[in-house]
Amino acid sequence: MIDLRSDTVTKPTPEMRAAMAAAEVGDDVYGEDPTINRLEERAAEIFEKEAALFVASGTMGNQIAVKVHTRPGQEVVAEERSHVFNFELGMAGILSGVTFRTVQSSDGSGHPTWDEISAAYRPGDDHESATALIWLENTHNMGGGTVMAADHSAEICENAHKLGICVHIDGARIFNAAVASASSVVDLTRHADSVQFCLSKGLGAPVGSILAGSAKFIAEARQWRKRLGGGMRQAGIVGAAGLLALEQSPQRLGEDHVNAQTLAVGLAHLDGIGIDPEHVMTNIVIFDVSGTRKTRADICRELQSHDVLASGWDHSIRMVTHRDILPDDIPTVLQAMRQVLN
Ligand SMILES: Cc1ncc(COP(=O)(O)O)c(C=O)c1O
Repeated sequence: MIDLRSDTVTKPTPEMRAAMAAAEVGDDVYGEDPTINRLEERAAEIFEKEAALFVASGTMGNQIAVKVHTRPGQEVVAEERSHVFNFELGMAGILSGVTFRTVQSSDGSGHPTWDEISAAYRPGDDHESATALIWLENTHNMGGGTVMAADHSAEICENAHKLGICVHIDGARIFNAAVASASSVVDLTRHADSVQFCLSKGLGAPVGSILAGSAKFIAEARQWRKRLGGGMRQAGIVGAAGLLALEQSPQRLGEDHVNAQTLAVGLAHLDGIGIDPEHVMTNIVIFDVSGTRKTRADICRELQSHDVLASGWDHSIRMVTHRDILPDDIPTVLQAMRQVLN
């Protein structure tokens, strides 16, 4: 199977498995797991934040961030297709008691301008809830892996801080953003109050995410992780793979971007497929199939019989490149698409 459903499907490398087997461990709830401590220290160092916390998933990191940055009844401003608003099963309402005020990005990238965000800002009064948090997503998943540039996010953070509002970056794929924009993850997240990034997506670790921010923020986040049942004891077993992923994987993400670009260019040549390869900046390729004679569900099902897995919604299909997709797989996928469409 050529599995393009997500970059979460990568399997741990033999090196990761060896590191996991040999990992030094302790009780992480007591702060005594040396591997997790090292992972958290390295993450904080790499992002130049005061502290970092290993969490079970991107969703857990995001939801803890919402919880720590807000109080019940407040609002979070987020782009309308953001993961936190659409795909975290309403947890921000359940756990934090907040509501979302969503905004669109006029250029379709998923990255609203400060003007678009500030139009949704509410200071709070007897009728309206106050905005407590601005939510950015870099890269933007449903926007097609688009990158928010460092100066764009810095401008939003500066303006938000002037209004006394925090900014969180859902950087599930922040290393893809850094590689594609030839910037560092520090540049992309410097002014944000917190950032979450996934070890288990493009970086290829089997489990886990990191939440990074100020020492005070992370101390509170650690308590929320425990309350949520995320104190994982000898977590160094999985953290060892995360540490390798963090040190070694960012360098190879460019290969995934090249594969995604080749795929996008090939798809653009197929009749009825709507895609502009110039909009494909990282490892996510989203294309419109409404110009074909088949539905998205039919295409995905038929691709499966050609040993290609993809996912989608409405009239769109999403294909995500990752470490387990090789350059030679791309012509195979394009050939499968041709056969399915004909
Ligand atoms: C942008 C973004 N944020 C957060 C998540 C959640 O990560 P996890 O699946 O580890 O909970 C995802 C997962 O696809 C994502 O794409």
